[in-house]
Amino acid sequence: MKKIKWGVIGCGGIADRRTIPGMMLANNVELVSVMDANLEVANAVKEKYNAQYAFDNYEAILAQDEIEAVYIASPVFFHKEQAIAAAKAKKHILLEKPVALTVEDAEEIKKACIENGVKISIGFLMRFHGYHQRIKEIIAEGKIGDIVSMRGQFTCWYPDIEGAWRQKKALSGGGALVDMGIHVIDLLHYLSGLKTKEVVAFNQTQTFNYEVDDSSAVIMKMDNGATAFVDSNFNIPDAASVAKLEIYGTKGSIVTSGTLAQAEVGDVTILMSDDSLEYDANQERNEIVPLSLEGTPLGNMYTKEVEQFGDAIINDTEVPVTIDSAIFDQKVVEAAYKSCETKAFIEIK
Ligand SMILES: NC(=O)c1ccc[n+]([C@@H]2O[C@H](COP(=O)([O-])OP(=O)(O)OC[C@H]3O[C@@H](n4cnc5c(N)ncnc54)[C@H](O)[C@@H]3O)[C@@H](O)[C@H]2O)c1
Repeated sequence: MKKIKWGVIGCGGIADRRTIPGMMLANNVELVSVMDANLEVANAVKEKYNAQYAFDNYEAILAQDEIEAVYIASPVFFHKEQAIAAAKAKKHILLEKPVALTVEDAEEIKKACIENGVKISIGFLMRFHGYHQRIKEIIAEGKIGDIVSMRGQFTCWYPDIEGAWRQKKALSGGGALVDMGIHVIDLLHYLSGLKTKEVVAFNQTQTFNYEVDDSSAVIMKMDNGATAFVDSNFNIPDAASVAKLEIYGTKGSIVTSGTLAQAEVGDVTILMSDDSLEYDANQERNEIVPLSLEGTPLGNMYTKEVEQFGDAIINDTEVPVTIDSAIFDQKVVEAAYKSCETKAFIEIK
């Protein structure tokens, strides 16, 4: 089996906690080099995962001929510069979400990848959850009918931290919405196959002192007329987080708790009604048929994310998460910020 030789750019946060451990389980990965602005971090990660080289500058990884792909997990404000440099060095790229600070910057990354003939996939890992894969199939099979309403909620506790890049708009692009809500927006697009047409939002900083939103509520009008509600918060304790995802259609509903996570966990309830139902003034629920997802294979989302991108490189096939889909998510996020600033409904073009 061919193995892709990887370099990691920014290896101290999510890379060390989740993605590199997931990579280590992939069948087509050889981790060669790691880089972090903090060389101590890079050296520690090199030792931990038995990589060959550790650097404190990304140019050193890009100069290594043997490296075929890079995983970029640096703070968002470095994504544009590093991804464009990687494309020019002819490295395939797995880039963490959000693609960049702005849609405009993301388009420049896309252009560089096309011009240099490299593949790029974006780190929307929740698509790889076994339950989400199954839910996508169930929706596509028409089992819950036409989607009329969706809702997703993703929260954590993220207090004021001196010097944190996520808490400065110029370095992160925004707060809870672009950091957490974008996962839900991406997942709703992916699962439903629908696209957002129009957005209205409230984004505010209620609890903390930083300049980015700690609370965001977005309502999206989808291209089939359905509505979707996405709320994201940095000010709800982790212990109180429920992470609900709800999808309602003309024949049934899908509700998950805890599947919006960094592991393949959570519960799913699927209720479908008999096709031949007529109006029931008593609104009884007798005809409801539950569908169980028991037996759905679950694994490690990060392993699948890296392995499937590696397969796309090896077989020259489509990447699992296209940059076009991620740029569309980012257009929705930008529209949501604009909506709140201008107190207007914003159309997505
Ligand atoms: N998909 C997911 O599950 C997930 C989860 C968390 C974060 N993320 C994304 O991953 C990226 C990184 O987030 P994080 O939470 O790991 O951040 P972090 O701040 O925890 O870690 C970032 C690391 O990058 C290093 N760094 C700083 N400047 C750098 C530079 N110029 N080049 C390379 N490395 C540099 C830091 O030293 C640190 O070790 C962001 O895009 C974020 O949105 C994704």
